[in-house]
Amino acid sequence: MGPLWKRSATSPGKVILFGEHSVVYGRPAVALAIDLLTTVETTAYSREDMTLGGSPDAYDRNPYLKEAARMEGLRGLDITVRSSVPMGSGMGSSAALISAFLTTLSAEPKDAPALARNSFVCEYQAQRTGSPADTSTVTAGGLISIGGRGYGTELWQVPAMHGRGPWRVDRLRDPGWTWIVAFSGVPKSTGPRVHEVGVRLRDDTSHLLDRITAVAEDGIRALERADRAEVGRLMNLNHELLVELGIGHPSLDRMVAAVRGSVLGVKITGAGFGGSLLALTQGGDEERVARLFSDAGGIPFVVGSSPQGTRLLP
Ligand code: PMV
Repeated sequence: MGPLWKRSATSPGKVILFGEHSVVYGRPAVALAIDLLTTVETTAYSREDMTLGGSPDAYDRNPYLKEAARMEGLRGLDITVRSSVPMGSGMGSSAALISAFLTTLSAEPKDAPALARNSFVCEYQAQRTGSPADTSTVTAGGLISIGGRGYGTELWQVPAMHGRGPWRVDRLRDPGWTWIVAFSGVPKSTGPRVHEVGVRLRDDTSHLLDRITAVAEDGIRALERADRAEVGRLMNLNHELLVELGIGHPSLDRMVAAVRGSVLGVKITGAGFGGSLLALTQGGDEERVARLFSDAGGIPFVVGSSPQGTRLLP
């Protein structure tokens, strides 16, 4: 029997500029969809088994795809994934995978708010925690704020999950800068790390969440003015607070030390404990800073924004 249908969709990756972890508790975060794409091709057959890259075991080990297929009540799918986003790097690989895969599952282009909400539910079920920051950003494309009071043009709301949220998702004006993301090579697993941070925050008496929120709100205002130096300064402040939160790693310290004098700002992006750093320079010297990152053991990516979010390919 030949295939019943075959569809492909693509989704950008993402970086978090301000507010990772605190966004889980409804505080504001800012994230940018980046031009590192994940493409999912799904072929449906009239049978029961599921494969990823031709392997039933690989499918079985992928909680994100399993949650998404279960949500849509579909079986008999062959799924192929091509991605320039390294897994576990903090660049939104799982969010891009879910959002693109869900998009392939219906013939009509999905309504973006529904896709963002469903993608979050799948990611949450797979990780048992988290915020809609990644899934909403890759679905929307461009520069986005998630949580907080709302800072731009509202795109959608993501309903509360197990007592956290709801999160308002807004579009912000993207200054269109080039960024450098450097993967430490140390993959991290978001779910357990978010839990770990939650435990630390229970005993926090130093108002860390409030301090991160103040930096994120200043960051939103600086982005609005396209004030590059101020955004860089606030990234450095956010990084210090994330280290105080306990999500640093020796590999990240080495990379930060290697570029500190050459950038406007550098910070952990995503869950931390490994994962990636995000850096912003004066502009024009991104390749040089990328080399500094690789000399310090990192895997650098010079990235721009992706104004387009997840979409079905023709
Ligand atoms: O999965 P990562 O590394 O992109 O981290 C996402 C950001 C967190 O705030 C740590 C978790 C979340 O779901 O918001």
